[in-house]
Amino acid sequence: MLLNVRDYEREAERVLDPGAFGYFAGGAGDEVTLRDNIEAFSRWQLRPRVLVDAGEVTTATTVLGREVSMPVLVAPIAFQRLAHAEAEVATARAAADRGTVMCQSTLASVTPAELATAAPDAHLWFQLYWSRDRAFTADLLAGVVEAGFEAVVFTIDFPVAGRRERDVRAAFALPTDLSLPNIPDPLARQDFHADLGKIVDATLTWRDLEWLRETCPLPLVLKGILTAEDALLAAEHGAAGVVVSNHGGRQLDGVPAALDALPEVVEAVGEGVEVLLDGGVRRGTDVVKAMALGARAVLVGRPVIWGLAVGGEPGVREVLELLRRELELGLTLLGCRSPAEVTRAHVKAK
Ligand SMILES: Cc1cc2nc3c(=O)[nH]c(=O)nc-3n(C[C@H](O)[C@H](O)[C@H](O)COP(=O)(O)O)c2cc1C
Repeated sequence: MLLNVRDYEREAERVLDPGAFGYFAGGAGDEVTLRDNIEAFSRWQLRPRVLVDAGEVTTATTVLGREVSMPVLVAPIAFQRLAHAEAEVATARAAADRGTVMCQSTLASVTPAELATAAPDAHLWFQLYWSRDRAFTADLLAGVVEAGFEAVVFTIDFPVAGRRERDVRAAFALPTDLSLPNIPDPLARQDFHADLGKIVDATLTWRDLEWLRETCPLPLVLKGILTAEDALLAAEHGAAGVVVSNHGGRQLDGVPAALDALPEVVEAVGEGVEVLLDGGVRRGTDVVKAMALGARAVLVGRPVIWGLAVGGEPGVREVLELLRRELELGLTLLGCRSPAEVTRAHVKAK
């Protein structure tokens, strides 16, 4: 019986090829941050209020002005064809069906236009790996705008790829027929992380955001912020949102859990910038804790992949719906009728 995200993870491990499962599940180095992303949620306790009329509860909210059915969005995940033949298209259709936003990775097997056409009801964001080839990046962004995407999420914690030892040990290689239309050069099948490091422009600085904002009129979200200092710079450089994220523990091992970095970022940016979080969200009550600590919404990465691997589009739909139901139950028992009613007073450190 698949009742929760953990169940989907176990089932995904059963159905996936071990190399692909390791690619999706793994993190960098000793995977300390990977584990801490999850453990951080258990270091906070909920403080429910009672007798507050919880007769009608909604999980709906808005993110960057877009109405969503819940403050749970789909994180950008590369190479989704390794999980299911329908890959990003299945994920986008499921997110549309469940009323939330999907963020497409640069490392998808379809272009932004192809995804938007295949999932016409989807509300899509595009995650950018910014290549050294400026003209290519400008064309890519023009396609993103043209296809009706609603935001660009620039991943800023990836000047090069972190070292994921599970992939090295398993000699994990991409399939030869995996197309990657949103990067200028093909990736080696075996050493794809090193190749990606050669494509991504590692020389970028805050100043380059000016070019990005001139080139692309969409709201800009910066993904991979872990400090108040960088959060302030993001606000100064016109970001509409930031994602407090350590890339699911896949980049620099030893950084704080995303949840632990959240309070200083929220404090630094104030009201002007929407603060999102990803990393380790596995339960509706995790979403509640992130909101109580100031997140507007969260993104989920691996849970979506487990749903995709287990059941394609319906599998992703089920994972998103189980999280929404858990969130609704959590809000009700906490005494909150909507995400907007969750406050800092609803949690305390253990
Ligand atoms: C297999 C895998 C591939 C990922 N690919 C990308 C990517 O292409 N771009 C990106 O910005 N983040 C990528 N991420 C990071 C996720 O967007 C997100 O930060 C992370 O998965 C959140 O943690 P969670 O998996 O615990 O929910 C990837 C993560 C995983 C697990």
